[in-house]
Amino acid sequence: MRIAVVGAGYVGLVTGACFASSGRDVVFVDVDEGRLEKIRRGESPIYEPGLSEMLRRNLDAGRVSATSDATRAYREADAIFLCVGTPTGADGDAELGAVFACADQIAEALRERDAGAAPPLVVVKSTVPVGTTHAIGRRLSERSGGAAFRLANNPEFLREGSAIGDFLRPDRVIVGVEDEDAGALLRDLYEPFTRHGGAGVMALDIRSSEMVKYASNAMLATKISFINEIAGLCEAYGADVEAVRRGMCADERIGPHFLFPGLGYGGSCFPKDVRACLEMGRRAGVATELLAGVDAVNRRQRARFAERVAARFEREGGLAGRRLAVWGVSFKPNTDDIREAPAVDIIRALAERGAGVTYFDPEAEANARGALGDVADAAPDPYLAAVGADALLLCTEWDEFTSPDFDRLRRAMARPIIFDGRNVMSREHALAAGFELYSVGRPDAARASVEVRTRAVAPPVARQGIGAGAELGRRPKKNG
Ligand SMILES: NC(=O)c1ccc[n+]([C@@H]2O[C@H](COP(=O)([O-])OP(=O)(O)OC[C@H]3O[C@@H](n4cnc5c(N)ncnc54)[C@H](O)[C@@H]3O)[C@@H](O)[C@H]2O)c1
Repeated sequence: MRIAVVGAGYVGLVTGACFASSGRDVVFVDVDEGRLEKIRRGESPIYEPGLSEMLRRNLDAGRVSATSDATRAYREADAIFLCVGTPTGADGDAELGAVFACADQIAEALRERDAGAAPPLVVVKSTVPVGTTHAIGRRLSERSGGAAFRLANNPEFLREGSAIGDFLRPDRVIVGVEDEDAGALLRDLYEPFTRHGGAGVMALDIRSSEMVKYASNAMLATKISFINEIAGLCEAYGADVEAVRRGMCADERIGPHFLFPGLGYGGSCFPKDVRACLEMGRRAGVATELLAGVDAVNRRQRARFAERVAARFEREGGLAGRRLAVWGVSFKPNTDDIREAPAVDIIRALAERGAGVTYFDPEAEANARGALGDVADAAPDPYLAAVGADALLLCTEWDEFTSPDFDRLRRAMARPIIFDGRNVMSREHALAAGFELYSVGRPDAARASVEVRTRAVAPPVARQGIGAGAELGRRPKKNG
């Protein structure tokens, strides 16, 4: 079976490489010639663990190629997977220009196919608003002069950073199909990955399949905003959200997954998919207040973090002229993707207040330079980023940031102040090394939180001044 994968991005590259690994012939199609050239050299155009090796292996085996000749690739393919981007458009809805541009090219190729060839399967893998796959089907029919094809929706659930493992061992594969042959073809294609367990291939109607993707991402985004809202309450009332989280997650009905407080969600999926749900609701006159709240909490979370940093320096003359180090720019660890990354907004907000920012990211530096330009400087090493800094902000929980050499860090920095936006650093070690440590949803200021607990009416800790954490930094706990 020959598969054309359109859109050599995070989803397309992983999809194509994994299908090739299971013995299929895969041709990548993209409008970005630079990406195609890298694939031909056996290099991944994006950073994703294991992807370059997988591409090279399959290239050497002759199962992978890359072309900008879309019409030819579609003419010869048995299955075409649409994996192009569907970013947020001007009105908050998904921007479907790339998807429909591809559909038009596929229609052109359908007209030119051999009359005797089996109709190809056109699979919409991009995340698209409900009804889009059918609209693509109608467009293919109209513009190909009624040529035969099969149509399916097949949303992708991989996570950047662990995308290959997710694709090879999926919890489930959702396919939206309306004819048995399309379902059988997709079952066959995914069989190497579903035979190991999980729920296997679940065949739904096309509209429900499209909706599963939005509902899943909206649910995950809701969990993140929920715990961040609880973290805000914990901060104000002196509770520790990490302890709260453990306590609530022990309830089987709640469970331990995806309830980590931090700087909120980012990336190319959750923010845009929540917004697309809001837009679907608006168009249909269906209220989506919960998801509007999820979006609002998420936007506020990163702004609040920048405000906390600014508040810490307020009584010392503000942020102007301060040096800040930022560890991590990618929206999550193990990816170079900075789309809608909290760190980018936080860096911009702090630079606007006059701070000089130096950042380090293990993989996202090139993308960060593109997005941040002159707003901030990049450093080649986390400790170099910290040299002379008045504070360090941990924005992405890359493993290497979780247990730094605190003594070395303290020597490098001008002031021993850390804002841990992901709650991954050891409080005990940071405090023992003499740092003031601020995290999310935790009582940074021991004295202030004790005061809160003993008062009849508790004023929020934040209004008492975050700076009380300095006391804690100088008097680490005995067992720390
Ligand atoms: N990134 C993720 O983690 C993830 C996970 C699940 C689903 N999705 C969904 O998958 C889709 C793709 O996301 P992505 O992150 O891989 O996008 P991406 O931006 O990384 O890649 C898209 C690719 O499509 C190419 N492209 C654009 N227009 C084209 C055209 N007309 N013809 C050929 N190629 C074209 C671009 O050059 C780019 O290489 C989106 O709908 C997204 O919501 C993404």
